[in-house]
Amino acid sequence: MIAVLEPEMDTVEQNAEALKSRLTPASVIRAREPLAKRTTLRVGGAADIYVEPATEADLAQTLRFAAEHSLAFFVLGRGSNLLIRDGGVRGIVISLTQPHFSRIEVVAREHKMVCGGGAKLKDVANAAKRNGIAGMEFLEGIPGSVGGALRMNAGAYGGAMFDVVDSLRFMDFAGNVQEVPVERVQASYRSCPFFKTHIAVGAVLKGQAGQRDSIEKRMAECSQKRWSSQPKAPSAGCAFKNPSAIPAGRLVEELKLKGTRVGGAMVSFEHGNFIVTDGTATAADVLRLMALIKERALAERGITLESEVQIIGSDE
Ligand code: EPU
Repeated sequence: MIAVLEPEMDTVEQNAEALKSRLTPASVIRAREPLAKRTTLRVGGAADIYVEPATEADLAQTLRFAAEHSLAFFVLGRGSNLLIRDGGVRGIVISLTQPHFSRIEVVAREHKMVCGGGAKLKDVANAAKRNGIAGMEFLEGIPGSVGGALRMNAGAYGGAMFDVVDSLRFMDFAGNVQEVPVERVQASYRSCPFFKTHIAVGAVLKGQAGQRDSIEKRMAECSQKRWSSQPKAPSAGCAFKNPSAIPAGRLVEELKLKGTRVGGAMVSFEHGNFIVTDGTATAADVLRLMALIKERALAERGITLESEVQIIGSDE
């Protein structure tokens, strides 16, 4: 048995070393990196190889390395809409958190912001406020990155990410970068299929001229609404997409499932579409609770709920 396991163990470390030798020293590469702490849900296993590329060239190298070694890869955003299974993620997990990818450059006279794919939405909203750019207020409380928000066409309080995009900078899986006007890419409710096969490395966001005071007021309103209706405990945001018939949160409430527990996972009392975790929860707990909600919604109301959270990784 050991003879079978050992080469496998080596391969992960060897691949991490081999990849490291191809990237600039500023890039971070780690083997067997725990990922739970990199998600807002705080559950799930480790990445075989974890990479924070420092530059677009290093990101392209990482993709080429993955292709050459037949390794799967996954681009992590801020981990706020993500459930990683307990067995962790095979292959390479890429995080665009280095300064090149999290930059926000403001072109105030054009009401534009040039953002890296890893920039935090909260920082984007604050930069917009400081520079009198209106229209980004709804981004304030979305706990995600620009790239993640593009991938999911994230939204809140009447606004959605694609409403504020002017142009997109993306990398294809062969490592080629291109920039296109937003009209070239289709997005719909909580979905942008294009970014299943391309990586959002940046975007130019565009708002309108606004008064700092009124922008601040709208941001405070969004924040107030959020904190009065959504839980503060660790979660992945809304667990299910809203079906057309009824908002998922109201449905779960009507099914009297608030407070239902599986292990360390619980349906939030504050909002029925949130599953919150305590420090003891596993990914399996969350998945079982989601399955239970889906079963009840189908059996009692004939409604098929669809996960809104991205689920990746392997079972233990
Ligand atoms: N409701 C209940 N009980 C609950 C929760 C909600 O009756 O436990 C009712 C509310 O009273 C309201 C309706 O359901 O009448 C909708 O609820 P809410 O206004 O909280 O919005 P939502 O549809 O549940 C959506 C997004 C959220 C986003 C908010 C605010 C989806 C799946 N969810 O939630 O996004 O923050 O609107 O705009 O589209 C996310 O994507 O992770 C997320 C949290």
